[in-house]
Amino acid sequence: MKIKNTRLLQALKLEPVDVPPVWLMRQAGRYLPEYRELRTKAKNFLNLCQTPELAMEVTLQPLKRFDLDAAILFSDILTIPHAMGLGLSFQEGEGPQFAKRIETIKDVEALPIPDTENALNYVVQAVQLIQQELNGRVPLIGFAGSPWTVACYMIEGSGHKNFITARKMAYQAPEVLHALLTKLVVATTQYLKGQILAGVNVVMLFDTWGGLLTPDYYQRFSLSYMKQIVANLKADPQTAHIPIILFSKGASVNLEAMAQSGANGLGIDWTVSMRDMRARVGNKVCLQGNLDPAVLFSTPQIVQATVRQLLDEWGAHPGLIVNLGHGIEQHTPIENVEALVEAVHEVKR
Ligand code: CP3
Repeated sequence: MKIKNTRLLQALKLEPVDVPPVWLMRQAGRYLPEYRELRTKAKNFLNLCQTPELAMEVTLQPLKRFDLDAAILFSDILTIPHAMGLGLSFQEGEGPQFAKRIETIKDVEALPIPDTENALNYVVQAVQLIQQELNGRVPLIGFAGSPWTVACYMIEGSGHKNFITARKMAYQAPEVLHALLTKLVVATTQYLKGQILAGVNVVMLFDTWGGLLTPDYYQRFSLSYMKQIVANLKADPQTAHIPIILFSKGASVNLEAMAQSGANGLGIDWTVSMRDMRARVGNKVCLQGNLDPAVLFSTPQIVQATVRQLLDEWGAHPGLIVNLGHGIEQHTPIENVEALVEAVHEVKR
């Protein structure tokens, strides 16, 4: 299908654009009343992800309100461990919880590689439905978690503020962690290939917890495994043409190494300046970010001024995708999201 709005794809190819593309991590979610309504109907979050018609509807909700330059598949990074049989549930207000967790090499060996044709087929169906509805309006981003970030949840068994159990494993039983990450590379490559064959136009790896690692361990346990996924997708003629974005939150100390990963774009959190990041990697790779999600709790005027500052600092260079430095927060006022998107597109007028 021919895509009409190609800003995101052009930015990822470092081509000039009329205005930088803008989309927001977690753009579909609880800050939208129409999301909360569907979520109540679906009873729980997993039903919402696993019912392709509902996942399609939620994906499109933010695009009905805002002039966004991309859609992102509504799903979660924990669908892979869920399909591996770890028993995922989301307790109200408490985040994800697994019935089983990974402790030993036997636990890793017992994990199946989920089949995108069966266990994860709901994602394939959702992508197909979304593309029918989008009808080429904007590109659709598919995604998965990075092996390290997904492993954090599988080892911890739930969310945690610093994933100490997973970090301890990196020192106490690195062979178990390496075995798990190796398995996740295979599963994630297949999963992303399934999304690409179903029709996504870009893929992104969310490495939310890469920044918990030392620079040495980041390269060993997070980046090296993301690189394998990038290499796998770029080596496969069916997936090689799809741009890839890596987002390691809190890990910009490793930016030069990330820029060597083969990915087309890098996500940047809000704790660093985009201008500094660009100076470090030059025009080799597209950068995505990096507004503080907290600025969306100010006023439309402040949001607008913050967006202008980002665009001014960036200048006329190609390769910018405007986004937040992490997911949009739950109680974000909608008018400020509107102001953000409009402020980006205003530079054209
Ligand atoms: O960006 C989008 O709009 C696409 C949808 C998306 C979700 N999760 C939906 C979601 C994406 C890209 C994710 C990725 C994800 N999931 C990450 C990486 C990015 C990040 O935010 O750091 C992580 C770490 C997860 C795991 C996860 N899923 C957690 C920790 C939670 C609970 C915390 C929370 O915010 O509630 C989820 C649930 C989740 N995933 C929700 C949504 C909209 C909220 C579920 C609800 O409606 O209650």
